[in-house]
Amino acid sequence: MTQRAIRFWHQGKVVDVSGISPQRTVLQWLREDAHCTGSKEGCAEGDCGACTVVVGSRDDSAPDGLRLEAVNSCIQFMPTLDGKALFSVEDVKQADGTLHPVQQAMVDCHGSQCGFCTPGFIMSLWADYEGRDAAPTRDEITNTLSGNLCRCTGYRPIIDAAQAAWQKPCVKMSRAPVRAALDELAALPALEYSDGKQTFFAPRSTDALAALYNELPTARILAGSTDVGLWVTKQLRELGDIIYVGAAEDFAQIAVDDKWIEIGAGVSLTDAFDTLIADEPEWAELAERFASVPIRNAGTLGGNVANGSPIGDSMPALIALGAQVVLQQSERIREMPLEDLYLAYQKTALEKGEFVRALRIPRATPQRFFRTGKISKRRDQDISAVCAAFALTLDDAGTVLAARIAFGGMAATPKRAAAAEAALNGRIFSDESACDAMRALTSDYQPLADMRASAEYRMQVAQNLLWRLWLDYSSTDALRVEEVSA
Ligand code: FAD
Ligand code: FES
Ligand code: FES
Repeated sequence: MTQRAIRFWHQGKVVDVSGISPQRTVLQWLREDAHCTGSKEGCAEGDCGACTVVVGSRDDSAPDGLRLEAVNSCIQFMPTLDGKALFSVEDVKQADGTLHPVQQAMVDCHGSQCGFCTPGFIMSLWADYEGRDAAPTRDEITNTLSGNLCRCTGYRPIIDAAQAAWQKPCVKMSRAPVRAALDELAALPALEYSDGKQTFFAPRSTDALAALYNELPTARILAGSTDVGLWVTKQLRELGDIIYVGAAEDFAQIAVDDKWIEIGAGVSLTDAFDTLIADEPEWAELAERFASVPIRNAGTLGGNVANGSPIGDSMPALIALGAQVVLQQSERIREMPLEDLYLAYQKTALEKGEFVRALRIPRATPQRFFRTGKISKRRDQDISAVCAAFALTLDDAGTVLAARIAFGGMAATPKRAAAAEAALNGRIFSDESACDAMRALTSDYQPLADMRASAEYRMQVAQNLLWRLWLDYSSTDALRVEEVSA
C-alpha cells in the first residue's frame, strides 16, 4: 500500500483531500472545509437524517454502473469516500439550473417549515427518485424516509411531495461520466492515508485484509461505521489505526447454493436483507424495522454480528435459523455456530487478529416455520427492548421435530432459549405446548431492567411473542386446511 491523498468525485471533478484527521467526518468536511453548508447536523449519531448525503459507487448491476445510496454523513469518516462519488443537496438541481422535481414538489406541497430537516429529506428522496422507474407507493415512501425526522412540518405534505415529484418533467442525472471517473480512481493503489498520528488502511482484498490485521491486531476494523462512527462523535474516542473493509470487493460477495446462503461480512445490511428476504419472506418484518434506509445502506451484517451487542437485531434470527459464522485469522479459516461466538457481555470468541469473514445461513425449507418479533418504543429507527426469533421444523402432523428459539435483550448476549425449545421438541405444537414453552422462558432468562424496559416487561413480552408465534402458526395452519378442503 502507498500513502496518498483521499480521492473522490465531488461537484463534477475528482478532488484530493489530505491534511485532515482520518476520523474527520464527511459532514464536517462538507460544511467546514468545502463550505457546502446545506447538509445539517442534528444529532451526530445517524438518527435524524439532517445530514443525509448520497454516495455513488461502482456497481455493474446499477444503471450505467453507478450505485447511488443515501447515507448519514455525520458518522462516515472521510477516507471511506476514497474511490466513490459524493453528492449533497447543493448538487441535485437540474442541468438548466432549475430545481430537481423532488425539490420543486417540496416547495409546491409545503413540505418544509423551519427547513432544518429539508436537505436531508431531499437527499433521501433524490436517491430514491434517481433509482426507480415508476412513482413509489406511500408505503415505499415511508420506508425511504424512515431515517429522516421532521419536527415541524408533519409527514403528510412531505409524502405528498414525494409522490407529486413524479408528475413533473425531469432528466435524470447522467451517471456515465461519474462511473468513468470512478474507474480511473479504482486503478490507483489501495489507500493508506495518515495524518502522522493515525493511519487508515483500505485493503482491496480479503487476503490483504487478513495479512494486515495479522500484522496490526490492535488496529480497529471499520465496516459501515454505524456503530464505530458514534464512538467518535458521541464518546470523542481516538480510534488509533483503522483497517477499513469496504474497499475489499471479495469481502462483500453473496453466494447461494441448494443448502446455504453465504453472506460476506462486508455486504451491506440492505443487500443482505434483500437476499435473505428472497429466500425467506419472513425476514422482511425484521429488515424494515432495522434502523433506517441510510443506516442499512452503510451498515453491514458482519458488523452487527461482530459488535455482538445483546440488543443487536440480526443475531436472534440468524441463530434461530442455525447460521454458522466463518472467522479468519491470517490464513486460518474456522467456522462455528453463531451462538458460540458470544461468550459474555461484549466478549466474543474472536482471537487476536481474527475477524468475521462471512455468515452461512441454511436456506428455507417447506417444513420450517420462521417468525421474528421486534419490540421497541418506535416502529422505525429504534433499538429493541426485546427481539425474538423462532424457527420450528414440523412434520405434517404438526409435531415439532426441532425448535430453535433465540432472543436479544433478554440476557448479556443474544441467547438461545434451551428450556423453551425442550418444552416444544417432540410434541404437537398446540396451545398447551406453547404455554409450557412460555413458562419455560422464566428458567432460560433473568432479564435486566434498564431505560428501555423493566425486567418484568421483558419477560412478559417475550412470553407474549411466543404466544403470538402459536397464534400465527395456528391461523396459518387453519388457512392451509381450508385451502385443502376448498
Ligand atoms: P461498524 O460500526 O463499522 O463496526 C462495528 C463493530 O464491529 C466494531 O467493533 C468493528 O471493529 C467490528 N467489525 C466490523 N466488521 C467486522 C468484521 N468483519 N470482523 C470483525 N469485527 C468487525 N442495530 C441493530 O441491531 N438494530 C437496529 O435497529 C439498529 N438501529 C440503529 C440505528 C442507528 C441510528 C444507528 C446509528 C445504529 C443502529 N444499529 C442498529 C447499530 C448498527 O447499525 C449495527 O450494529 C450495524 O450492523 C453495524 O455494522 P457496521 O458495518 O456499521 O459496523
Ligand atoms: Fe442526525 Fe446525522 S446529524 S443523522
Ligand atoms: Fe422544521 Fe422539518 S421543517 S424540522
